[in-house]
Amino acid sequence: MKLKGKVALVTGGSTGIGREIALQLAAKGATVIVVARDETRALDTVALARGRMIVKRADLSRTDEQDRVVAEVSREFPDLSILVNNAGIQVTMDDTGIGDGGLIARFRQEIEVNLTAPIALSFGLMPTLARQREGAIVNLASGLAIAPKRTAPVYCATKSAIRTFSRALRYRCEDAAPCLRVVDVVMALVDTGMTSGRGTGKLSPQAAARAVVNGLEANRQEVWVGQSALLDLLHRISPGLAYGRLRNG
Ligand SMILES: NC(=O)c1ccc[n+]([C@@H]2O[C@H](COP(=O)([O-])OP(=O)(O)OC[C@H]3O[C@@H](n4cnc5c(N)ncnc54)[C@H](OP(=O)(O)O)[C@@H]3O)[C@@H](O)[C@H]2O)c1
Repeated sequence: MKLKGKVALVTGGSTGIGREIALQLAAKGATVIVVARDETRALDTVALARGRMIVKRADLSRTDEQDRVVAEVSREFPDLSILVNNAGIQVTMDDTGIGDGGLIARFRQEIEVNLTAPIALSFGLMPTLARQREGAIVNLASGLAIAPKRTAPVYCATKSAIRTFSRALRYRCEDAAPCLRVVDVVMALVDTGMTSGRGTGKLSPQAAARAVVNGLEANRQEVWVGQSALLDLLHRISPGLAYGRLRNG
């Protein structure tokens, strides 16, 4: 897929992996719409961009905001070709305990941002994306979709669900919109605000974004970033070993 001249929307394009994806797409000649809550941070990304970038402020944990983004983008950007569902949050809890730890409201928010928003944006923007000569929906999953960790059960469930959604959506596109690819990105551990203070051997956000952008250019359906491919292999050979490696992560 050629990126020059394309219009791309990147949710969570204000920081971390999303910011780097937005910057790299802009550097390749795409016009990028960055969707995030914090406009100041998003404008900082725009200031760094070598290319055209636009900010659309929205809180994707709210269904009315998800619907507004779909309506506005469909109207304002009829040539949208690429949707990157990157925005995500991770709610962590204690290692052990009974019940939700008082976190149920935050878990609901996590499901909205990580799962409902990508579903709403994918279906809502599909008519626009399907009209283009070539288009892509890119969904950010995680190695934790394969082997979950005990401290983030809802996060891991949303990442597992988004992988299944990507596959089923791909089946639908193969019939209804063959020019529209659905790309499932299985991300490794990356050094961002989300992982601050934990983990070692983390990938840089730049390297993580490069893998996503290269995958888009190479028309891949699945992008295994960093160690995630090894984790998948280990899971196929010995699921117990894979689960053991991540359960206390
Ligand atoms: N970092 C990792 O190791 C890792 C590993 C596997 C998968 N991933 C996935 O990669 C994606 C990016 O993660 P990251 O590490 O780059 O995270 P990050 O640095 O924390 O950035 C998250 C982005 O999402 C946006 N966001 C959060 N809540 C939002 C909301 N309610 N509405 C709109 N935007 C919202 C944030 O902007 P605002 O705060 O301004 O809204 C920010 O731009 C996520 O889907 C994550 O699950 C990350």
